[in-house]
Amino acid sequence: MELRDRIDPHRVPRHVAIIMDGNGRWAEKQGEMRVIGHMNGVNAVRETLVGATEIGIEHLTLYAFSTENWNRPRSEVDALMDLLVKTLLSEIDGLNENGVKLNAIGDLASLPEGCHDTLLEAMERTAGNDRITLNLALSYSSRWEIVQMVQALAVKAKEGRIAPADIDAEMIAAHLSTAGIPDPELLIRTSGEERISNFLLWQIAYSELYFTPVLWPDFGKEELFRAVLDYQGRERRFGKISEQVNRQG
Ligand code: IPE
Ligand code: IPE
Ligand code: MG
Repeated sequence: MELRDRIDPHRVPRHVAIIMDGNGRWAEKQGEMRVIGHMNGVNAVRETLVGATEIGIEHLTLYAFSTENWNRPRSEVDALMDLLVKTLLSEIDGLNENGVKLNAIGDLASLPEGCHDTLLEAMERTAGNDRITLNLALSYSSRWEIVQMVQALAVKAKEGRIAPADIDAEMIAAHLSTAGIPDPELLIRTSGEERISNFLLWQIAYSELYFTPVLWPDFGKEELFRAVLDYQGRERRFGKISEQVNRQG
């Protein structure tokens, strides 16, 4: 039986987030430059997106470039930004054919101008699609996002538009860059590293975590299906006991 056929279509996570890691090591293993790993990482993105669409995932959030990644060698940062622009331009038609709506989260204003413009254009041109939303986390970090949220709420409080006592979990979530998107039920990280690296700290409060040694360029549909199957084998108790969860079905 194919992996895909073993997935329960009624319990597919609505939102899957992925920390795409291991491009550099993948390239090193083949004796190539790191950028070759990033280029092959794009194929993994395409395949994973197709797989996600096939099984009905509604939101796929990919950590593509972190705030901390600005500290990499200049040549690698430039190559990544270049690759982003080229990929966006070459993929727009494919995204439209597959009903993919592109969205981006992060400090987008910090991206090079050409990159920022291309990103906005790709978002505009795919805005009418509704089969799946692809959220690219670019120049993103969770602490950056939380600082933005706190500043926005502080301004509203200062202007008297909200009272401090109005601030609750729901209001906080509505002021994060993921506002309106359900929290990810499943967070995947590739390459064997088992850390969060400043990704979606608020949103993953109750996510199931899945770590795989597979390096990102080797990830794809099958690996995604494996992760979803693993997720479906887990019991999500949200603080309750097993008996309560089972009784509720
Ligand atoms: C992930 O792969 C891609 C980005 C962070 C942009 P890495 O570039 O981190 O690959 P490794 O971890 O060095 O193998
Ligand atoms: C995390 O990967 C960021 C992205 C996948 C974009 P890194 O490879 O930069 O993470 P650390 O620094 O090793 O934790
Ligand atoms: Mg890495």
